[in-house]
Amino acid sequence: MRRKLAAGNWKMNGDAAMLGELADLAGAQGAQGDDAPEILICPPHTLLAHAVAVTDGSPVGIGGQDCHPAEKGAHTGDVSAQMIAATGAGAVIVGHSERRADHHEDNDTVRAKVEAAWAAGLTAILCIGESEEERMGDDTLQIIADQLHASAPDGTTGDNTVIAYEPIWAIGTGRVPTMEQIVETHDMLRDELVGRFGMDAMTIRLLYGGSVKPANAAEIFTADNVDGALVGGASLKAADFQPIINALAAS
Ligand code: PGA
Repeated sequence: MRRKLAAGNWKMNGDAAMLGELADLAGAQGAQGDDAPEILICPPHTLLAHAVAVTDGSPVGIGGQDCHPAEKGAHTGDVSAQMIAATGAGAVIVGHSERRADHHEDNDTVRAKVEAAWAAGLTAILCIGESEEERMGDDTLQIIADQLHASAPDGTTGDNTVIAYEPIWAIGTGRVPTMEQIVETHDMLRDELVGRFGMDAMTIRLLYGGSVKPANAAEIFTADNVDGALVGGASLKAADFQPIINALAAS
């Protein structure tokens, strides 16, 4: 049984006022049954410690958006997984397509970041996804299977890692794959994980990401191998994110 996960990625957005949104979100969570979805918000590094304080005692967990592969050292402007863990955060996103594009991160770098996250005791939220060109070229399944294998280290388990499938062309665009495409990709990823890690991989959670909104979340969550969502724009306001959490809880 995989616990569902609603994860929010604030990207380079977030100020003191948005901590109020986070407090609202934390305060809105009722009693948590055994099958209540896990809730995670990943604000920018500058807000991590504040976000941990604001959500303290609530079911809302906090994560970072990236980490450096090294524990410490001469890497101006970077933040290590240990530093993120020291704020009280419990997870970190790695390999987001915006990092892969803006910072030229390849699969080897992303794999090293996953291992750094584990070493710091953080859950790695490992992102993969195809470009529009790859989708048009009918290469999607091969591309994301290759990314998965090259970015996920040996030792990947349902306890230390979550996989987020995010088609690049669906991020921030309002476009989402068809349900057939969502089912096909997530089923394939599950098969690949089981092929490599055995039946233990049945516990690894698979998230869909890319223009998840209150209006489309319930349908997306009908897919068997979609265990939740990684949400950008619609995670910035509690009033948008809460209906997505509710849809996940009801799925
Ligand atoms: P979006 O972003 O929900 O705004 O499309 C998703 C993501 O990039 O994680």
